[in-house]
Amino acid sequence: MARRKKIYEGKAKTLYEGPEPGTIVQYFKDDATAFNAEKRATIEGKGVLNNMLSEYFMLGLTNIGIPNHFIKRLNMREQLVRACEIVPLEVIVRNYAAGSMAKRLGIEEGMQLPRPVVEYCLKDDKLGDPLVTEEHIAAFGWASQQDMDDILSLALRVNDFLSGVMYGVGIRLVDFKIEIGRVYDGDYQRLIVADEISPDSCRLWDIETGQKLDKDVFRRDLGSLTDAYTEVARRLGVMPKAN
Ligand code: C5P
Repeated sequence: MARRKKIYEGKAKTLYEGPEPGTIVQYFKDDATAFNAEKRATIEGKGVLNNMLSEYFMLGLTNIGIPNHFIKRLNMREQLVRACEIVPLEVIVRNYAAGSMAKRLGIEEGMQLPRPVVEYCLKDDKLGDPLVTEEHIAAFGWASQQDMDDILSLALRVNDFLSGVMYGVGIRLVDFKIEIGRVYDGDYQRLIVADEISPDSCRLWDIETGQKLDKDVFRRDLGSLTDAYTEVARRLGVMPKAN
């Protein structure tokens, strides 16, 4: 059996060289980590659910013209994606106060924000992904002003899309994180949505009951993470099935 070339192993995913140049195989693991990997567990079935859910959201983005890395799902745990250069920023969009923002600013969790708030964190596990401003991003050259305009526009378009999709199934999109990749077409650089969109990277609350259906279930020991993610998949009509 031929061995695949591993490009990168992260906390929840492993990346392998794809079959064609410019492609990558993204493998979704069952590992869950929180608080910068201080808390860890293996949660059976999480990788399968996130593979399906990320496929669902990325295809939705493609359908409304938001460029992203997704090419096709290969099997229960793997998808083929376009290789890109990841911008070293985590782009967070918040509609309601929660998590680190609620804590940092002393705001009660669940307060609706007057407008979506976009935040940037430097992707650096050793530093715990610190919050950075556009001044830092410009000064250290992590992204250009044109990139930042494009990133903001992508983030807000993804927010509108995801908020609407989730609202349609009775779920409030509290906040989410996306990552952005650079791809090159000849002389031009384009930015696309990369990585994953799944309940690992979103806060999702049931509109009626406020029940948490995202990774906070794991972070805060609120019950079964698999049950929560399965409920999101069930409502969206995304059920794991063999390829
Ligand atoms: O922890 P915080 O409140 O800053 O998280 C905001 C949003 O970004 C949450 O939906 C969280 O799941 C997501 N996030 C992430 N990966 C990180 C940090 C935050 O997916 N490293």
